[in-house]
Amino acid sequence: MTSDSRPKYFLAIAADPPHRPELQTSALGLAQALNLIKAKVGEPKSELLLAVTPDRLELRVLFGEADLVGGNPVYIDFSTIDTTSPAGRSLDMPLLKAVGIKKGNSHRPAVFDCTAGFGEDAWLLASHGCKVWAAERHDVIRFMLEDTVLRSESTHKQIAKRIQVLPSDARNWMYKCRGADAIVLDPMFPLGRKAKERKPMRVLRLLAGDDNDAPAVLDAALAAGVHRVCVKRPLKAPVIANEKRPAPDVVYKGKAVRFDVYLNN
Ligand SMILES: C[S@@+](CC[C@H](N)C(=O)[O-])C[C@H]1O[C@@H](n2cnc3c(N)ncnc32)[C@H](O)[C@@H]1O
Repeated sequence: MTSDSRPKYFLAIAADPPHRPELQTSALGLAQALNLIKAKVGEPKSELLLAVTPDRLELRVLFGEADLVGGNPVYIDFSTIDTTSPAGRSLDMPLLKAVGIKKGNSHRPAVFDCTAGFGEDAWLLASHGCKVWAAERHDVIRFMLEDTVLRSESTHKQIAKRIQVLPSDARNWMYKCRGADAIVLDPMFPLGRKAKERKPMRVLRLLAGDDNDAPAVLDAALAAGVHRVCVKRPLKAPVIANEKRPAPDVVYKGKAVRFDVYLNN
């Protein structure tokens, strides 16, 4: 299932460099799994290209919106997420507070991330010791995430092993989160922020759309019986509408985003 606002772009897949047989084999396997046309690098036929390179899966924007990303590929790079400096280890981060991590308490909640995307929140949570189930319903994004988590096992085994990527809509997995202490929802922010959106997020939006069904996903999350449901929002955006829970119980604010937290039982 995907958000119905999801735009349709012609996406193909290619191995780069093309002369590496193992990349060609991976590209063929992925083309079949994702039902994509297998292309050659340099063929200007598709609007988006999923390139299978020796180091990663990367998305190349080949049509007018290439300006969005300055012609650069978009890929997941967990090494850009600060998890080691004093700021990166700080338990004051709103996401960590939202899921219930407390200073002086070694308990680390198990978290069901219903909107995994490029996995930044999942990686941050896992680097702080949380077990994370990360659902992503867009298959291309999910494969990019799975691939990066798998590759990260060679350098950050303990963190990578805490993340389990789940396919399809998070609502299909709500039963799985019975062992979770917290659910995290980070649907695409309202479009007004597009000018300020980071480049990877713009490309994510090209693929995944605007997540206009977020109220229904919140509804399902609130009904799942998990203690904390945490919704990431732009600082000044309205809450996601919910008749039964019109306002969150707690709000944790950061510089640009906030987490609306709904507490159960
Ligand atoms: C704003 S991005 C999330 C970014 C992510 N928190 C991160 O740190 O990289 C939203 C993502 O959630 C996915 N998504 C939205 N609703 C979903 C649902 N109900 N089930 C699974 N994935 C969902 C979209 O496909 C998109 O990739």
